[in-house]
This record gives sequence, structure tokens and C-alpha cells, in this order.
Amino acid sequence: MTRSRNTGETAQPRRRGMALWGATAALAFAMLGPGAQAAAPKDAALSSEDKVCLDCHAKPGLAKTLGDGRKLSLVVQARAFAQSVHASSGCEGCHSDIDLKTHEKEPRSVASKRAFALEQMETCRDCHKKTVKQYDDSVHSALVRTGSDKAPLCSDCHDPHATRSAKEKAAGASEPVACQKCHEGIAIAYADSVHGRSGSEALACKDCHQTHSVKAAALGDFVKKECVSCHREVESTHATWLPNTARHLEAISCPACHTPGTTRRVNLRLYEGNTPHQAEKVGVPKFVKLVNWADGSASGLDARALWSLLQEFNSNGAEQKTVLRGRLEVQTGVQAHQLGERALALKDCDTCHRQGAASFQAVTVSMAGPDGRPLRHEASKGVLSSIESVGAVGGFYAIGSTRIKLLDQLLVLALAVGILIPTAHLTAKLLIRRRRAQQALAARATAPSQDGRAEGSGAGPDENRR
Ligand code: HEC
Ligand code: HEC
Ligand code: HEC
Ligand code: HEC
Ligand code: HEC
Ligand code: HEC
Ligand code: HEC
Ligand code: HEC
Ligand code: HEC
Repeated sequence: MTRSRNTGETAQPRRRGMALWGATAALAFAMLGPGAQAAAPKDAALSSEDKVCLDCHAKPGLAKTLGDGRKLSLVVQARAFAQSVHASSGCEGCHSDIDLKTHEKEPRSVASKRAFALEQMETCRDCHKKTVKQYDDSVHSALVRTGSDKAPLCSDCHDPHATRSAKEKAAGASEPVACQKCHEGIAIAYADSVHGRSGSEALACKDCHQTHSVKAAALGDFVKKECVSCHREVESTHATWLPNTARHLEAISCPACHTPGTTRRVNLRLYEGNTPHQAEKVGVPKFVKLVNWADGSASGLDARALWSLLQEFNSNGAEQKTVLRGRLEVQTGVQAHQLGERALALKDCDTCHRQGAASFQAVTVSMAGPDGRPLRHEASKGVLSSIESVGAVGGFYAIGSTRIKLLDQLLVLALAVGILIPTAHLTAKLLIRRRRAQQALAARATAPSQDGRAEGSGAGPDENRR
């Protein structure tokens, strides 16, 4: 699992991404020698106040011992700073709390590098309100708030003392590096995907995830919206061969068909009634408690346990009825980034619509956790085929893949007649229930998107968002 790998890697000291600028500056500085910076033409940008600070802080070797026993280098590369976008703000722009009279004599205690970075990050707010706001809404920031010491702070991606304008850097070249240092497995997989390989047109992580407002990937349909914002014709091109296109694009994540040789699972996500909002946060302790209780043997929730989980969520006069909606997705984050050419995409109906299809053998139930990332719990594959659970899972049912013979026959019949929807109304009670859920979905689609993202809302297959 990539998660554990990430966790390991992010334990590395920060600044690897800045190494390039740092190294360049260090080299230049070393060649000029400490006393020479005043002679460099660019250094005219340094104010006399900054030079006072740099008299001490440009000296090699200046360091401070932190609360955790580690050393923090206090060296600031004068030349890199003079050439940075922040030269105009001066040291004072970010370090206004420093009083030279007491500065050196009364050293303040700093617990750790991370604690210091976290504290200093507050100054960015003064001048970059919009960006900080975006960051505050991100999964990274949520992770920081919930205590992660691995999620990136501003200074993990930007060296505050050597920040260059993004326009100056080779287009797109800086960004994958920023993400790659912590998501290496994914970055490698991505580089070899249809997008990553496509040379000058290569997308960057931000094209699907955004740079500062990165959201949990499996939360709602954020990423899918990005896909559709570039591939606008998706629904119509797929409709040429895929019946019930909207239904399929709703119930199946794009990589589940576009990653060759992938393994799949069904994830049953808890939603607040007919809204596009995944049930989250307040329900988390309840979810964790209930799934653990109902799954004492750790063999996965069975249909009955799942049913009582929902009952429990919907008791105590909850405002919104909590429902489950199924989504077929790939099993790992790496697989989600191995998209292949169209010729390699899954077209074979049989792969899914067959008794015992592999795609439906792994089932999880999930709820959005405190940072937006899903908390998953295994469910037994039986939940998909048990009549009992059909009502509970709000109509996730792929013909042929499950054991409900009656429904199979009805659907096959409907397909043969070619009028699937009208016949569904007349046949079985269960199918009617299913249909209602679909209508509710369609109704919901007419309501404006409420997740704060402008792109893609209101148009295309996303209208029937899951
Ligand atoms: C006379 C030398 C000197 C000057 C001038 C000086 N510093 Fe320092 N600075 C130090 C030393 C020594 C430390 C480490 C103190 C310690 O051991 O805690 C330090 C620590 C710091 C730290 C680390 C956090 C902290 O408070 O310990 C920052 C940030 C800093 N200085 C910024 C500045 C800025 C900005 C200026 C100019 C306004 C400046 N310094 C001027 C010597 C100096
Ligand atoms: C754009 C805001 C900004 C400006 C301008 C700025 N700093 Fe900093 N400084 C920071 C931040 C943020 C940190 C904490 C970096 C970290 O470790 O995450 C920091 C850390 C430091 C440290 C501790 C060592 C380190 O690198 O972590 C020193 C010393 C320091 N700054 C000195 C200076 C001096 C001297 C100047 C002017 C030449 C200056 N700073 C200009 C934002 C700034
Ligand atoms: C005193 C005001 C001020 C503070 C505080 C400040 N900045 Fe800036 N920052 C600027 C200015 C001015 C620019 C250059 C103009 C621009 O592009 O917006 C800039 C530019 C940038 C850029 C480059 C934008 C581009 O064009 O690509 C980055 C990245 C950046 N700042 C990061 C930070 C970070 C991180 C912090 C906190 C450690 C910070 N800034 C704190 C004033 C500030
Ligand atoms: C995960 C890495 C990462 C983190 C964390 C990050 N940035 Fe950035 N930032 C970038 C990259 C890469 C760019 C270049 C433009 C782009 O690709 O969107 C950028 C661009 C910027 C810009 C230029 C204008 C813009 O919004 O595009 C500013 C200002 C900025 N960042 C400030 C910040 C501040 C302040 C923080 C902390 C709240 C921060 N960044 C956190 C990677 C990061
Ligand atoms: C300093 C390390 C660091 C950097 C840099 C970084 N991330 Fe993350 N990111 C994390 C950690 C830690 C997590 C939480 C663990 C995980 O999901 O891998 C995370 C989580 C995520 C998630 C949510 C994962 C999920 O389960 O839904 C996405 C999406 C993401 N990052 C994208 C990015 C993108 C895009 C960039 C570059 C702009 C980036 N990250 C840069 C450390 C980092
Ligand atoms: C073409 C669009 C696209 C690009 C480009 C892209 N991703 Fe993703 N990413 C996805 C999709 C799709 C998912 C899975 C979402 C889901 O579960 O529905 C995902 C999931 C993730 C996750 C969560 C993985 C997990 O364990 O659940 C992380 C972290 C992530 N991406 C990071 C990155 C990084 C880093 C890059 C750049 C190297 C990147 N992504 C580029 C589409 C993209
Ligand atoms: C049921 C499997 C399946 C799903 C789900 C699916 N695709 Fe496809 N897709 C295919 C197949 C098969 C092709 C190749 C069709 C052909 O060449 O005849 C294809 C073709 C494409 C193409 C190539 C050009 C075109 O428009 O036909 C793009 C782009 C594409 N899909 C994007 C997406 C996106 C974005 C999503 C998610 C919103 C998605 N696909 C969901 C199976 C799927
Ligand atoms: C920023 C725009 C953009 C986004 C976002 C985007 N794509 Fe693409 N995609 C492209 C471009 C451009 C190509 C053509 C690359 C090439 O073939 O050179 C492409 C190619 C493809 C292909 C191969 C088509 C073929 O003809 O072989 C598939 C499949 C595909 N994308 C699926 C997706 C999926 C799934 C997502 C979301 C997870 C996504 N794309 C997000 C721009 C985008
Ligand atoms: C990647 C797996 C996958 C593939 C490939 C696939 N389907 Fe499906 N199909 C599903 C899922 C999942 C559903 C949704 C079931 C649900 O929500 O009850 C579905 C639903 C259906 C439905 C019922 C729609 C409805 O409204 O209930 C029909 C009919 C159907 N598929 C036919 C096909 C045909 C024909 C093909 C081949 C051209 C095909 N499917 C390919 C997974 C797949």
C-alpha cells in the first residue's frame, strides 16, 4: 500500500525539492565568498536592514539546537534571497516578531523543525490570503490539523528564502517534483501512464488534484469532474457502445476500466440521503464503533450487520437518512494512475456481468474520515448478492455478477425486449425500489453542486453524481 510507503518517506527532512535552488545558490555563494555578495549586481535589492540580519545569518555554520536535540541550520543564502520574489518584502516582511535588541541574547526555545515551520507558516497568511485559504481547505491541511507531521506545509514546497516565480521555472517542471517527494510510488506509476507518457502535453498532478486545494481523492467525484472537464465528450463517445452510459459512468470509476490489468473492488459509500454529500465526521466514531462491534470475527461485515449499521445511523431521528451507494473502483492508489490507451480499456461486458465476476469479490464499506479520506472496512462479498442487502445498498447491482437469479432473469428479459426501464416498473417490488433511488438521483442532479468546485458542475454525466 502506498500509504505506508509515503509515511516512511515523508519522515525524511524537508527541502529536498528545494535542493536545486539551494545548491545553485550555495555554489554561487561559495564562488563569490562570504564577503563578496555586496559586489553582485542583484544584491542591490537587499535593504540595509536585511544586510544587518545577513551579517550573522549568511555566515556558514550558524545553527541552533532545538528542543528535540536536533540542529537547525540558521544560514540564509543571501544571493538566493536577493533574487527571490520576497526580496522586496525583506526579512521584516515575515520575521516582524524579531527584535534585534534581545534577539541574540535571549534565544527563544523552539521545540522542533516542524513546530517552527508550522509557526512561521502563519506569516504567509498576511500576504497570500487566497492561496492560504485554498490550502486550509485541502486534505493536506486537514491532515496537519489532525496531527500529521508528514503532510506538507508551505515551506515543504517553497523555500521562503529562495522562492522564485512559477513563471520563471520551466512550465510544469517544478510541480511533479513537489508532489513526488512524498507520493513517489504514484508519481512513478503516473509517469508511465497515457498522460504521463504524452510528452509535451503531459499533465501534472495539479490538473487532476489541484496544487493547494488538494482534496481526498475518493471524496465524492472531485477527480472525475477534472477528467470530464478535459474529456467533455465522455458520455456521448461511451454511449456508442455502452448501454445505460450514465449509469455506468456513475457506478464505475474511470480507472476501473482504463487501467489495464487492474484489480477492482466495490466500495459502498455512506451518503446523507439523496444529497451528493458523503456522510462524514460526526458519524465517524459511530461508524468505527459499529463496524468493529458487528465484525467481531474480522471476517468482513455481512449483509445483516450492514443492514443494522444503517438502521443504527438512521435511528435517533437523524435529519438525513444515511444510505449506501456502490462504486466499482481500483484497489490501490498506484493503479488509479496507470491509465492506458483507449485500445487497452475494458470493453468486455462479460468481465463484470458474469456469475462470480472477479470485480465483485472484494467489497468495502467506507465513510469519509476527519480529514476527508475514506475510512474503509471490509464487507463480505455476500452483501452484494443477498436480497436482504439490495434495499440497503440503494440499488447497486450488476446483472450476472451476483447470485440473485430472479433479478438476473428479469434484467436479461428487459434487455432482450430493449425497454429496460419501463418493464422494471412492472416486474418486481425490488426493482421498483431500485428505480426510485435512480429517480431520486436524477432529481438530485438538478440541484446545484454544493461542494464548492466550479468546474464541471451542472453539465455532462456528473449530473448524476454519486
Ligand atoms: C548578531 C547576529 C544576529 C543578527 C544581526 C540577527 N540574528 Fe537571527 N539569530 C542569531 C543567532 C545566534 C540565533 C540563534 C539563537 C539561539 O541560539 O536560539 C538567531 C536565530 C534566528 C532565527 C531562528 C528562530 C529564533 O528566534 O531563534 C531567526 C528566524 C532569525 N534569527 C532571524 C533574524 C532576522 C530576521 C534578523 C534581522 C532582523 C536577524 N535574525 C538578525 C544571530 C543574529
Ligand atoms: C516570505 C517570508 C520570509 C522572508 C521574507 C524571510 N523569511 Fe526567514 N523564514 C521564513 C519561514 C516560513 C521560515 C521557517 C522555514 C522552515 O524551516 O520551515 C523561516 C526561517 C528562518 C530562519 C531559521 C532557519 C531556517 O531556514 O529554517 C532564519 C535564520 C531566517 N528565516 C532568517 C531570515 C532572514 C535573515 C531573512 C531576510 C534575509 C528572512 N528570513 C526572510 C519566512 C521568511
Ligand atoms: C510581506 C508580504 C509577503 C509575505 C508575508 C509572504 N509573501 Fe510570498 N510573495 C510576496 C510578494 C510581494 C510576491 C511577489 C508577487 C506575487 O507574485 O504575488 C510573493 C510571491 C510568492 C510566491 C511566488 C508566486 C509566483 O509568482 O509564482 C510564492 C510561492 C510565495 N510568495 C510563497 C510565500 C510563502 C510560502 C510565504 C510564507 C512563508 C509567503 N510567501 C509570505 C509577499 C509576501
Ligand atoms: C505540495 C506542495 C505545495 C504546498 C504545500 C504549497 N504550495 Fe504553493 N505552489 C506549489 C506549486 C507547485 C506552485 C506553482 C504553481 C502551480 O503549479 O499551481 C505553487 C504556487 C504558489 C503561489 C503562486 C500563486 C498561486 O497560487 O499559484 C503562491 C503565492 C503560493 N504557492 C503560496 C503558498 C502558500 C502560502 C502555501 C502554504 C499555505 C503553499 N503555497 C503551499 C506547491 C505548493
Ligand atoms: C511533504 C509531503 C507531501 C507532499 C509534498 C505532498 N503530499 Fe500529498 N499527502 C501527504 C501525506 C502524508 C498524505 C496522507 C497520506 C496519504 O494519503 O498518502 C497526503 C495525501 C494526499 C492526497 C489524498 C490521498 C487520499 O487518500 O485521498 C492527495 C490527493 C495528495 N496527497 C496529493 C498531493 C499532490 C497533488 C501533491 C503535490 C501538489 C502532494 N500531495 C504533495 C504528503 C505530501
Ligand atoms: C489524470 C488524472 C490524475 C493525475 C494527473 C494524477 N492523479 Fe492522482 N488520482 C487520480 C484518480 C482518478 C485517483 C483515484 C480517485 C478515486 O479513488 O476515485 C487518484 C488518487 C490519488 C491519490 C490517493 C491514492 C490513494 O491511496 O487512495 C493520491 C495521493 C494521488 N492521486 C496523488 C497524485 C500525484 C502525486 C500525482 C502526480 C504525480 C497525481 N496524483 C496525478 C487521478 C489523477
Ligand atoms: C465500462 C468501462 C469504462 C468506463 C467506466 C469508462 N470508460 Fe472510457 N473508454 C472505455 C473503452 C472501452 C474505450 C475505448 C472505446 C473505443 O475505442 O471504442 C474508452 C474510451 C475513452 C476515451 C478515448 C476517447 C473517447 O472519448 O472515446 C477517453 C478519453 C475516455 N474513455 C475517458 C473516460 C473517462 C474520463 C471516464 C470516467 C468518467 C471513462 N472513460 C469511463 C471504457 C470505459
Ligand atoms: C488537463 C486535461 C486532462 C485531464 C484533467 C484528463 N485528461 Fe485524459 N487526456 C488528456 C489529453 C491531452 C490526452 C491525449 C494524450 C495523448 O494521447 O497524447 C488524454 C488522453 C487520455 C486517454 C487516452 C485516450 C486515447 O485516445 O488513447 C484516456 C483513456 C484518458 N485521457 C482518460 C482520462 C481520465 C480517466 C482522466 C481523469 C482521471 C483524465 N483523462 C484527465 C487530457 C486530460
Ligand atoms: C467494469 C464493469 C462493467 C462493464 C465492463 C460493463 N458493465 Fe454494465 N454495469 C456495471 C455496473 C457496476 C452496473 C451498475 C449496476 C447497478 O448500479 O445496479 C452496470 C449496469 C448495467 C446495466 C443495467 C443498467 C441499469 O440501469 O440498471 C446494463 C443493461 C448493463 N450494465 C449492460 C452492459 C453492457 C451491454 C456492457 C458491455 C458493452 C456492460 N454493461 C459493461 C458494470 C459493468
